[in-house]
Amino acid sequence: MCPEDIRFAADPASDVVRGLAALGLDLTVVTAAGPGRSRAALAAALTAATGARPFAGVLSLLADEPRPHPEHPELPGGVALTLALVQALGDAGIDAPLWCVTRGTAVLGAGERPGPVSHAAVAGLGRTAALEHPGRWGGLVDLPPDPDERALRRLCAVLTSVTDEDQVAVRSTGVHGRRLLPAPVRRDPPPGRGAGDTFGHGTVLITGGTGGVGAQVARWLAKGGTGHLLLVSRSGARAAGADELRTELRELGAAVTIAACDAADPDRLRDVIGALPGEQPLTAVVHAAGVLDDGTLDSLTPARTAACLRAKLTAAHALHEATAGHDLAAFVVFSSLMGVVGNAGQAGYTAANAALEAFVAGRRAEGLPGTAIAWGAWAAGEGMLREDVVRRLRDRACPPWPRRRPSPRSAGRSPRTTASSSSPTPTGGASPTRRVRAPPPC
Ligand SMILES: NC(=O)c1ccc[n+]([C@@H]2O[C@H](COP(=O)([O-])OP(=O)(O)OC[C@H]3O[C@@H](n4cnc5c(N)ncnc54)[C@H](OP(=O)(O)O)[C@@H]3O)[C@@H](O)[C@H]2O)c1
Repeated sequence: MCPEDIRFAADPASDVVRGLAALGLDLTVVTAAGPGRSRAALAAALTAATGARPFAGVLSLLADEPRPHPEHPELPGGVALTLALVQALGDAGIDAPLWCVTRGTAVLGAGERPGPVSHAAVAGLGRTAALEHPGRWGGLVDLPPDPDERALRRLCAVLTSVTDEDQVAVRSTGVHGRRLLPAPVRRDPPPGRGAGDTFGHGTVLITGGTGGVGAQVARWLAKGGTGHLLLVSRSGARAAGADELRTELRELGAAVTIAACDAADPDRLRDVIGALPGEQPLTAVVHAAGVLDDGTLDSLTPARTAACLRAKLTAAHALHEATAGHDLAAFVVFSSLMGVVGNAGQAGYTAANAALEAFVAGRRAEGLPGTAIAWGAWAAGEGMLREDVVRRLRDRACPPWPRRRPSPRSAGRSPRTTASSSSPTPTGGASPTRRVRAPPPC
C-alpha cells in the first residue's frame, strides 16, 4: 500500500517499491489517493487488486503520506490511512500479515535523528493493532530515510523470513529488535534537588492542571517551593474541585492562576503566557492535558483519533511555539505506558502518546529541554483511569500506582522517587534495541 506519489520529487515510498521489485519480490502496488481516503475506498481497491491470487503479505508505506487528513488537520494523513487500511483489510477479508513501515521511530546511536512524529503515531497505532488483530498482524519495520540496497535486502529478509519479532529497525548495518529494558534506579538522589532546582523559581505552566494527575503535580511543585503555578484546562476555574485546589496550593505557599485555555490553541496559549507578571517569568512547562476516546480499531473514525492527537500532540506543538524564546528549565510531557506497548481499545490514545514522545525526542535533538514520562496507571479514581482499564492493566501485570493523598507522611516525596519502585515507566525504556539474528538477505 502506497500513498499517492504526486508532488514529491524524491518519493521515498516509491524508492522502497522499486528496490523490493528489483530484488525479485512479486509486488502488487495499491495506491491510496490522498490522505482522506476512506476505509471503503481502500477495501474496494484491495479487493480489486487481490483478484484470484491472495496476498502473501501486505506492506504499508502509508506513513510516508506527508499531508494531514483534509477534514481533521490534527490527524497526520499517514495515521488516518493506516487506520483505514487496518479496517479495510478486515472488511475485505484479507488476513495476510500487515507490516507497516516507519522512518526514524528508532534512533540507533548518535548519528541518527528522530524521524517525523507522524511515523511514531503510526507505530503507536500499530502496537494496538498487534494486540487487537494478532492473527493478521506482521509488525512494524523502521527504515532509514533513504534505505540503500543493503537495507532493502534486509527489509526483504524481514518480510519473508522473520516470524519471532514484530518491531524491528532495519539499517544497512543490521536488523535490530525493539526491547524494553529496566531503567537504572538511582538509590542516592543528589541532596537538595527539589522542584525549584529542576523547574526554576518562576512560573510553572501545567496543562491539564485541574485534572487528576495535573493537580497531583501542582501539589508536589507547591511543596517543593515553586513560586507561581499557572494551571490551564479548557474548563479552567469551572473545573470540578478547582476552588479547593487553589486554596490548597496557596496554603502550601504557591501563588496560583487558573485559566481556561485550550492548550492546542496557539493564540490563546500565547495570551495566557503573555499575561504572566514580569517578576514571575515562565520557567517550566508540564504538559499533562489528555483525552481518551476508547474503542476498538474497527469502531474508530478519523474524528475520534484526531481528538486524542489534538490534546497531546497539537497542544505540545503549540506549547513549543508559545514558549520559544523563554528560558525554560524543563519541558515535561506526560505520555503513557500505552504508547510504548499498545493497548487494545485505545489505538487513538496509544498513537497520540507515541507521537508525543517522538515530539520530545525532536526537541532534545534540537538541544532544547524535554522529558517524556510514560506513566503506568496513576491516580485511579481521580484522573482518566477507569476501573475497567485498571482491571485489564492488572491482567497485564501493571497494577495502578496507589492513589496518594497529600499527607504529612508523603509530604515532600516526589513522584520521581516513588516511580522508581512502582509502575510508571521512563520513556527511555522504549529505545534500546537488540540486534536480531536475521536470515540472510534475499
Ligand atoms: N491517570 C493515569 O493513570 C495516567 C496514566 C498514564 C498517563 N496519564 C497521562 O496523564 C495526563 C493526565 O491524566 P489524568 O488521569 O489526570 O486525566 P484527567 O483527570 O482526565 O485530566 C486531563 C486534563 O486535561 C485537560 N485537557 C484535555 N484537553 C485539553 C486541552 N485541549 N487543553 C487544555 N487542557 C485539556 C482536562 O480538562 P478540560 O477537559 O477542562 O480541558 C483535564 O484537566 C494525561 O496526559 C494522561 O494521558 C495518566
